[in-house]
Amino acid sequence: MSRRAVTVRSTQVAIIGAGPAGLLLSSLLAREGIDSVVVERESREHVQGRIRAGLLEWTTVELLREAGVGGRALREGLIHEGFDVAFAGGHHRLDLKALTGKTMLVYGQNELQKDLAEARSEPGAVLWEARDVTLHDWDQETPRVSYTHAGSRHELRCDFLAGCDGYHGASRAGLPRAGLTLYERVYPFGWLGLLADVPPLHEELVYANHERGFALCSMRSRGRSRYYVQCPLEDKVEEWPDARFWEELRLRLPERYSARLVTGPALEKSIVPLRSLVTEPMRFGRLFLVGDAAHIVPPTGAKGLNLAAADVRVLSRGLIEFYRNRSATLLEEYSARALSRVWKATRFSWWFTLLMHRFAGDPFARRLQSAELEYLANSEAAARSLAENYVGLSFD
Ligand code: APR
Ligand code: PHB
Repeated sequence: MSRRAVTVRSTQVAIIGAGPAGLLLSSLLAREGIDSVVVERESREHVQGRIRAGLLEWTTVELLREAGVGGRALREGLIHEGFDVAFAGGHHRLDLKALTGKTMLVYGQNELQKDLAEARSEPGAVLWEARDVTLHDWDQETPRVSYTHAGSRHELRCDFLAGCDGYHGASRAGLPRAGLTLYERVYPFGWLGLLADVPPLHEELVYANHERGFALCSMRSRGRSRYYVQCPLEDKVEEWPDARFWEELRLRLPERYSARLVTGPALEKSIVPLRSLVTEPMRFGRLFLVGDAAHIVPPTGAKGLNLAAADVRVLSRGLIEFYRNRSATLLEEYSARALSRVWKATRFSWWFTLLMHRFAGDPFARRLQSAELEYLANSEAAARSLAENYVGLSFD
């Protein structure tokens, strides 16, 4: 039986996964004349259709601009100078601008995904619908990626591999377990999210701590809102008809917000589990793990996308330094530099999750939450600490 012909191709950097991390890295390298090929399992439409978060730190916006893909985000995104925390029937505004001098940009991740894919739409830059993607020789001089595309086998030879294929990807999964340390925390609840073409109930985001559970009021534009309620992990979306969702959201919000709630049919509704996961190290020979392939944060505080962008910032500078001056110093420091920020964002997302969610059967924790929220509302030092982490810590 004849061995199926394998088409061999070479590039400088083979990138696995065309999510925000993979495409942003590919754009930044292209700006520097560094060749890369992105190998993605799903179709372009499928990846763009995923509803995810939509809150960008300003350092992420600057990196998008550096990659030449920030234009639409800045034109259509909403600049937010603060957000509200609601608790015990009252509310407190965190003035991010006054506390840190920085702001956030509200821009849907799926819109960003469209911009990033458009920027890498030249033929051969991204291989969509590539199947059976396998990484080889990541500990050798010339690593390879093999995959099936349009029914035939292909092999991509490269200098470096960037594993940007998310939590369920092939990159981390293909590594020897002995060389990895996984740090994980799983939270005993999920988030039920609903997207609807209704005007947001408030001009800024509202994070609500309530006896019935957490709620978040966010948006994608002045006409499209995104709401979340904390729900039991075992719940099914079918058990949450729109009316039940709206009623539960209303019950968890102080009157000043619930009185302004406009409801409507759900465009999308889904439940996500909450977990914190960090992989150490984030580099294995010539393979660099990036974004969700290396770490997961709970969505409280919207650090997932921003952390992926932060990894791309560190890795792109290392690869540019390598191809410009043949210096591998920054690449050797990639794992330590990226992990230093990953752990700080992981700590913040864990802390914010503990502060804002209801942990059943733990009255002591409930009292601690009330005390911490009171402290937050009355201490500039506490508010500044939250604000600094929320807008994104400066790079080392
Ligand atoms: N081969 C090729 N591509 C793969 C494979 C594989 N074996 N497995 C997964 N992928 C693709 C997925 O289809 C997805 O498009 O890798 C991409 C990974 O993208 P993301 O999961 O979005 O991860 P990342 O780019 O790191 O972005 C992290 O996105 O999911 C949000 O909350 C997350 O905000 C965070 C950000
Ligand atoms: C969102 O808009 O989806 C969002 C915003 C803030 C978060 C999480 C999600 O903390």
